[in-house]
Amino acid sequence: MRIYLLFYFFAFANCANILFLSDIPSISHFMWSKILLDSLYERGHNITALSVHVEKSRANFTFLHLDKVVPEVNKLNDKYDFFEFFKLGVSIELSYFSKLLNIISKKSFESQGYKQLQNYPENFKFDLVLYENSLDSCLLGILEKFKNTSPLIGITPKHSSRPFGANLLFPSFVPAHNLLVSSKMNFQQRLQSAISHLIEQIIINFYIKPITRQNIEDHHANVNLDEIQRRTKIYLVNSDGFTSYPIPLFSSQINVGGMHIKKPKSLQNEFNAIADNAINGLIYFSLGTTLQNKLKREISLKILRTFGRLSSYTFLWNFNQSKESLPMDLPENVKNFNWVPQNDILSHKNMKLFISHCDLLSIQEALFYAVPILSLPLPLILFMDQPFYANRIKQHGVSETLSILDFTEDEFYETIKNMLENKTYKENAKKVSKRFRDQPMTPIEKAIYWIEWIMRNPDADLEGVAADLKFFAKYSFDVYGVFLTVFVSFCYSTLKFVIFIIKTCVYRRKNVKIFEKKSN
Ligand SMILES: *[C@@H]1O[C@H](CO)[C@@H](O)[C@H](O)[C@H]1NC(C)=O
Ligand SMILES: *[C@@H]1O[C@H](CO)[C@@H](O)[C@H](O)[C@H]1NC(C)=O
Repeated sequence: MRIYLLFYFFAFANCANILFLSDIPSISHFMWSKILLDSLYERGHNITALSVHVEKSRANFTFLHLDKVVPEVNKLNDKYDFFEFFKLGVSIELSYFSKLLNIISKKSFESQGYKQLQNYPENFKFDLVLYENSLDSCLLGILEKFKNTSPLIGITPKHSSRPFGANLLFPSFVPAHNLLVSSKMNFQQRLQSAISHLIEQIIINFYIKPITRQNIEDHHANVNLDEIQRRTKIYLVNSDGFTSYPIPLFSSQINVGGMHIKKPKSLQNEFNAIADNAINGLIYFSLGTTLQNKLKREISLKILRTFGRLSSYTFLWNFNQSKESLPMDLPENVKNFNWVPQNDILSHKNMKLFISHCDLLSIQEALFYAVPILSLPLPLILFMDQPFYANRIKQHGVSETLSILDFTEDEFYETIKNMLENKTYKENAKKVSKRFRDQPMTPIEKAIYWIEWIMRNPDADLEGVAADLKFFAKYSFDVYGVFLTVFVSFCYSTLKFVIFIIKTCVYRRKNVKIFEKKSN
């Protein structure tokens, strides 16, 4: 018996069956999650990943492919010019999102991988389920079929300016995403922030979430989604103290910001030569795949001309286009690659500046390696946080921001030149980097620790009643409502009373006057 127990413990600690669910059609999200899955695999766990993006399966690491999603999403994205799209207003954004969410759900359910998991025996035991919760996952419905109720962990490469789980909104010191103000807001800004946060919550809860929920309910007859979601014990969130604002959190939220940053490897071949030879300074430019492919010619032209003018510096452009499609010949100091080992390049000693559309994963790398950032975020769109990050990191004195839609060539030139010559950006970046690195354990170690902690303590409830309260009760709006009603009623009755008294006095006086007249 003792031996059996020992074996059981050993087996549990070393080899748990972990299911990973991700319906997000984004390579960068997948790469982020993969770092976590790889580490769990190395710890001896058996991983089954049902995911839009996959790799080749191997022993103890099974990928189930949601193969139908990406082709449909690409078809949808081809219909939109993202540089224009963002100017068209919220209704267009919302209709895009509703189409996207419908495709994700419907095509996931039709996919090979989904059917494979549905064919698993009902008594197959997953000890733990990790799921991507950047959007509401349409894949949670499948858990209904598994008889055992394993704990869930939500993971997301986004950060917590929007609350996960039972966590709260703090509009008074976390500005809403569409307000490009610092967290130190005056009354008017706080009012705007509260209204914007509220509108966003209404959109999320009454428009976005119901789409996925309806799809799940259409596909799985008797699913109780609330019950499944309530099994989520913790959220691993890509928050750090630099790209997000300080806020109070439940202990269910584990901040693993920068978890994806790998130990830099030394650069190979041409990258090595370029970086080592850039003695005046290396500048890395990247807009991420989606934007890069849709970059307009006139914008590319402004960028290339400016780089050409700064001829003593070397520019490395992560640009996925052929030479023919460029608007001009590449200046000699600009090197163009359709793939760049970003993490390793940013860690190079000659790296002076990162010009970025300001996606979270990239700027975390830059901050980690103390590289100042010139942000070129696309202007606002719901659920895209780049202007928000750009605005936040500016507070650390490590960055400047220009609008990618309408920056001028001179403005671009002056900003780059100033950022390279003015030493304060680098000094501030070094301070941030030092703090970023100074942690009791690395973010990935922390993530693994908490995942295994949940497996050791599957009954833990770190959110308590807060997780069950509805919006109005959670923020005590109903209580304030009562206060307000009492206050208003009190004021009203006092007013009534005063008016009554005044009227009575006036009436009396009149009466007295009439009486006096009469008696005269
Ligand atoms: C690992 O998980 C797969 C399911 O994806 C299962 O078929 C296999 O038996 C598991 N291996 C172990 C050692 O539990
Ligand atoms: C897979 O897991 C089983 C059970 O834990 C283990 O015996 C086996 O060595 C693992 N295989 C690989 C390739 O890691």
